[in-house]
Amino acid sequence: MDYQFAERVNKLRSSAIREILQVTEMPDVISLAGGLPAEELFPIAEIQAAVNQVLEQGEAAASLQYGPTEGYLPLRRQIAGIMQERGVSCSSEEILITSGSQQSLDLLGRVFLNHGDTVLVENPTYLGALQAFEVFEPRFKAVPTDDEGMVPEALERAIIEYSPKLVYLVPTFQNPTGRSMNRERRWAVAEILRRYQVVLVEDDPYSALRFEGEELPCIKSIENDRVIYLSTFSKTVVPGFRVGWMVGDPRVIGSMAKCKQGADLHTNSLVQHILARYLQETDSPAHVARIKAEYKRRKDAMLTALAREFPPEVTWSLPEGGMFLWVQLPEGVDTGLLLAEAIAEKVAFVPGKAFFVGEGGENTMRLNYSNSSPELINEGIRRLARLIKPHLDVA
Ligand SMILES: Cc1ncc(COP(=O)(O)O)c(C=O)c1O
Repeated sequence: MDYQFAERVNKLRSSAIREILQVTEMPDVISLAGGLPAEELFPIAEIQAAVNQVLEQGEAAASLQYGPTEGYLPLRRQIAGIMQERGVSCSSEEILITSGSQQSLDLLGRVFLNHGDTVLVENPTYLGALQAFEVFEPRFKAVPTDDEGMVPEALERAIIEYSPKLVYLVPTFQNPTGRSMNRERRWAVAEILRRYQVVLVEDDPYSALRFEGEELPCIKSIENDRVIYLSTFSKTVVPGFRVGWMVGDPRVIGSMAKCKQGADLHTNSLVQHILARYLQETDSPAHVARIKAEYKRRKDAMLTALAREFPPEVTWSLPEGGMFLWVQLPEGVDTGLLLAEAIAEKVAFVPGKAFFVGEGGENTMRLNYSNSSPELINEGIRRLARLIKPHLDVA
């Protein structure tokens, strides 16, 4: 059968990460590639208790019924409480529960992007956002970004030049780099959004996972009107629930909800009820504290191993939270080629090029520390170091 797919489908790139993950799912590969939370830390007993409560305490029928597109109201109220802690006052009308933040990105594309509209992004940026938006055939323009996040002056110039529909940022513990935008820049970006009346999508799955350094305000807490804020329970509870949320102007939420009806009517009712019970009945901040302590231990193990094993020409980011760090090799080293050798040695990472819009990034890699024990991280970095050295000699 010769299928006649829509033109936009033929243009889509597949996720380099998904392809790599297929290889790395082999049991004896040390995978520093994926973006998976540590499953040893999943709160399974607490979730089991929440499941029992939902199904045994008069809530069973409601949890198995169709529900409102905007999401289960008690959960939206709990999310309003979480937002309050993040410095944002919002009502439940400003919250839409989605099937993970990933769905928010897709719905934002549906609501905002016409063919040819410009989206300004960091370079590198979250690959899943590029994939979600790409279906709507926008133009991506990369704005210069350094260790302290997107450069505000460069953002202003890009806004004047391209009149973007959206700016997309992961300001805190970014995927893929682990870097955060500094405090001054957050205020500067908020001021630019106000001045030029531009909408920012602030994607924030990781700020709850800060294990060191000073708290930074989300940009939404500085400039409420121009910011659509996304977050998720994937990193603080479990990703398999597929529950995230969006906070925005009720007019945006209304349009998003219309598109969500077409996509899936609403996020899984049973899971929303279970999550609401879980948040009500357990000490979830204590659980997040345990995750942070363990990720810090793993991040420190990776930094120690990098300092010991990697050649001095190689540099890396120093994340204060989140799940990733970013490695920069000398110009001329191709981490795509290195990956093939690494897989033969049963260690995997994601070559950085996949996260770039346009040229660049061949000599970079993303390493994940949340999903491997310190022992495996040590061994993985030792193997990578052995493979990198010959590449430096020819670079
Ligand atoms: C920056 C960023 N946004 C969104 C997502 C998607 O998260 P969710 O599991 O909530 O769909 C991820 C997941 O890794 C991410 O890193």
